[in-house]
Amino acid sequence: MNISYIDNIPDVELYHDLRTSVDWKVFSKEQSEKALKNSRFCIIAKDGEQTVAMGRAVGDGMYYTIVDVIVRPQYQGKKIGTSIVNRLMESIEDEMTDGCRTSIQLIAAHGKEGFYVKQGFKILPNEYSGPALRKVIYT
Ligand SMILES: CC(C)(COP(=O)(O)OP(=O)(O)OC[C@H]1O[C@@H](n2cnc3c(N)ncnc32)[C@H](O)[C@@H]1OP(=O)(O)O)[C@@H](O)C(=O)NCCC(=O)NCCS
Repeated sequence: MNISYIDNIPDVELYHDLRTSVDWKVFSKEQSEKALKNSRFCIIAKDGEQTVAMGRAVGDGMYYTIVDVIVRPQYQGKKIGTSIVNRLMESIEDEMTDGCRTSIQLIAAHGKEGFYVKQGFKILPNEYSGPALRKVIYT
């Protein structure tokens, strides 16, 4: 297995296929296309011609959110997820100049927080911050 990592945004069909592979719901085509286009950084992992994983970050230079970290089930447990998160964090860091401070937020799927703790993320609440909050809006 020779995995290559590429800065690239998947097309919407591939994105939906990756989400479906891990039993996540998909958004509408229009919403997905717009969201993917607005990614600040997006990494895909390929095994030959097949895209086997992805992850992306949205943000403004001060605050970033990591989303859509997806590794196809048959490729999980091979450090591909780790490589993707590391590459996203490197891209974010590369943009920083001296004196900058930036924070990266994410909400882990149930039971996945241990994966992010291994990448240096701190579980909230902690001594500095309260719990994370989320509001989901439907139209
Ligand atoms: C979670 C996910 C991204 C991890 O990617 P992966 O490539 O399988 O994970 P890695 O091989 O890079 O694992 C790195 C480390 O995290 C650990 N880890 C992986 N999943 C974990 C979990 N759910 N809980 C605790 N630790 C976990 C691994 O054991 C490994 O530990 P080690 O370094 O001590 O060996 C992947 O399993 C996945 O896509 N799951 C379905 C979608 C999902 O839930 N994504 C996360 C959204 S928040």
